[in-house]
Amino acid sequence: MTSSGLPGFRDFYPEDFALRDHIVSGWREVARRYGFVEYDGPPLEPLELYTDKSGPEIVDQLYTFVDKGNRAIALRPEMTPTLARMVGARAQALPKPIKWFSIPQLFRYERPQRGRLREHFQLNMDIVGETDVMSDAELVAAAIDAVRHFGLDSEDFTARVSDRGLIGIVLQEVGVPKGRIVEAILALDKAERQGDEWLAARLTELGVDEAGVRSVVDVREHDLDGLTAHFAGSRDVAEAADRLRAFFALMSDHGLSAYVTFDPRLARGLAYYTGLVFELWEREGRLRAICGGGRYDDLLAAVGGPDLPALGFGMGDVVLGELLKEKGLVPERQTSVDDFVVYVTPAQRSAAIRVARRLRERGRGVAMDYRGRSVGRQFRAADQLGASRTIVIGPDEERDQTASVRDMATGEEKVVPLIGLIEGV
Ligand code: HAM
Repeated sequence: MTSSGLPGFRDFYPEDFALRDHIVSGWREVARRYGFVEYDGPPLEPLELYTDKSGPEIVDQLYTFVDKGNRAIALRPEMTPTLARMVGARAQALPKPIKWFSIPQLFRYERPQRGRLREHFQLNMDIVGETDVMSDAELVAAAIDAVRHFGLDSEDFTARVSDRGLIGIVLQEVGVPKGRIVEAILALDKAERQGDEWLAARLTELGVDEAGVRSVVDVREHDLDGLTAHFAGSRDVAEAADRLRAFFALMSDHGLSAYVTFDPRLARGLAYYTGLVFELWEREGRLRAICGGGRYDDLLAAVGGPDLPALGFGMGDVVLGELLKEKGLVPERQTSVDDFVVYVTPAQRSAAIRVARRLRERGRGVAMDYRGRSVGRQFRAADQLGASRTIVIGPDEERDQTASVRDMATGEEKVVPLIGLIEGV
């Protein structure tokens, strides 16, 4: 019987690993361009870090166990609580704003399907210690660039943006009691999958009258002015809407207006968000979100740290990888072999190993045959590995301290002094 891995977990064969590496390296590059520094935390955390703070959806998906010291443990399903704990412990000493990024592997017991697995790698970029709307805009710009970097543009994906503060005020205005606002926001998030009727029933349950239910269910994309007009009496709505307008103006300064739309139905499924929330979606919307994030100004204090505002996002490698495959944006695999050193008879093996060593010291990727097979077979092996040069050491070359070098692309061959070959690299 051949054994198979767990459902929802991936084996990374070299071609899969090459795509993962392409994505992770691209993310690192974008994070660097925005001035973020990298950190990491442990893959296991105390269970309670998530049970209070993340919200019911993630808690249902936790991988948990009790360790030998009788502690309740969870595999990390997201990075934000770890970040809040780590920053919280050192916050006083760190200059603000703190701009950190990480690319952890995360674990969620979800039903595996296209774009959704039980493990994934997630770029997290977070800013701590800043309230200005300029930081919100820069963070969303970074998220957009972390996708554009791979060759996708505004025809391929879009950023939906809303504000939990604004949604909260609206829900309060229509009659949701203060203590149940988070519940109503999470219901709004679920309405995406459950539909309008389900949402209407949930809002009614939360004490909203028919007119109120209609005004929530009917709000539509783009319509920030319509929403403010509808709640013209509320100063809080006007203020929250002004902040969003400032955000959209800044996105225009970033040159990214084509990517962002206001979508009051976007709420996000995590409990800790307090302000701006956003998600990046493939335009056709067939996969789950590429990325999601927002402001979470109360979380640091809630995990026992100082009261510092924060915002960030998480972007998964699974959905992005699917998109890159679909759009033909996966780069051809680069071979790691530059030179293949051929030895003509076993007598030249030592000389050939010495040449290989000098080339490797110069940074070249070098492969050799282990068994002294025929020159023809060694050339075939070089070809299969995609080597750009084949360097042949035979009895004459060994005696003359030379090598015959064949350019594998052009087939051109010449004899060169060894010293020149090595120093010319
Ligand atoms: P999230 O929306 O739960 O947010 O996840 C962010 C992204 O991770 C999703 O948009 C999706 O691309 C990817 N993702 C999540 N679960 C899976 C899965 N089971 N399979 C494949 N991909 C997945 C968070 O995790 C927040 N902690 C993000 C954040 C950081 N907020 C502030 N800072």
